[in-house]
Amino acid sequence: MTSNLQLLIREAAQTLSQGELVVFPTETVYGLGARADSAAAIQKIYQAKGRPQNNPLIVHFHSMSQMKEWIKLPEQAQKLGNKFWPGPLTLIVQGSERICKEARAGLKTVAIRIPNHPIALELLREVDIPLAAPSANRSGHISPTQVEHVKRSLGPQVEIILEGGPCEVGLESTVLDLTTKPPRILRPGKILREEIENEIGPVDLIDQKLHASETLASPGLLSKHYAPEAKVLLMEGSEIEYFCRPHKDDKVAIIFHSADLKSKLNEPDNLKKIYLSNNPSNYAQQLYSTLYQLENSGYNCIIIEALPQEPQWQAIANRVSRMI
Ligand code: TXA
Ligand code: MG
Repeated sequence: MTSNLQLLIREAAQTLSQGELVVFPTETVYGLGARADSAAAIQKIYQAKGRPQNNPLIVHFHSMSQMKEWIKLPEQAQKLGNKFWPGPLTLIVQGSERICKEARAGLKTVAIRIPNHPIALELLREVDIPLAAPSANRSGHISPTQVEHVKRSLGPQVEIILEGGPCEVGLESTVLDLTTKPPRILRPGKILREEIENEIGPVDLIDQKLHASETLASPGLLSKHYAPEAKVLLMEGSEIEYFCRPHKDDKVAIIFHSADLKSKLNEPDNLKKIYLSNNPSNYAQQLYSTLYQLENSGYNCIIIEALPQEPQWQAIANRVSRMI
């Protein structure tokens, strides 16, 4: 880490301890951070994002030893933490008064994680207070995986943005609720159900078609979310072939994962073909930045090739299903 970057991090840490906001990179997406023990600081997050007050935040720590000073960690959390932290796993555990209730949106529980990014970890160590940080986008918009997205989505509301290049994972963390029996995955992510079950035994995966009561269990899982400004459609390969003809009014983009399909299709005016990858990790890494790019270039209709059923594609399928 260069000394210049270290200076910037120190300045950011001071800003945070004074109750202001800072955007910082994590391995999943960029986060909009504020100290988790200050109601006034947390209010600024909700305001900057236009986020509904009933949607709780994830609190970020630099280590499990720091976590234990703030929260009582159940055994399952310690086990999972030892295996996956720092990393893209968020655990819901019983809250504590030290984490202000605004960060928890009034819930008794709290979401916690240790991000795996050198800048995030250095910032967390420097400020040495846990940071509540949702994704650094306007509420309901796509999570940012590059600094340009943050600026586009949030506008000039945040003074300090720490630049960390493109995020490696590109999708938000897996959220696992440990306060239910069995525990349940509220949001699928890079850390898969099977990997979690190897550590702590059976867990449930919340149904994507949420019932009202489940929506309340994690208010952020509103059915329409993570949406770009364009209209998004999900189509099987055969439907896409049919669709590949000139479009008069719409600027249409098609996102593939099947290489053979791409070569089969023609490319009339107003229609852009984008082959992301048939590897789910690479696809996930590029999806949000592709959507931001398309939005920026005025594409108003985005067709996404229907995704494979394998577990590695589940997080991507979950996000896409909530864009349509
Ligand atoms: O990868 C990530 O998790 C990123 C980076 C910045 O860490 N953060 C992120 O935060 O995606 P956000 O606020 O965009 O999503 C947090 C999700 C929301 O769906 C929220 O409802 C849920 O976690 N959540 C937070 N606290 C909860 C709680 N106590 N009970 C249930 N769900 C909770
Ligand atoms: Mg978000």
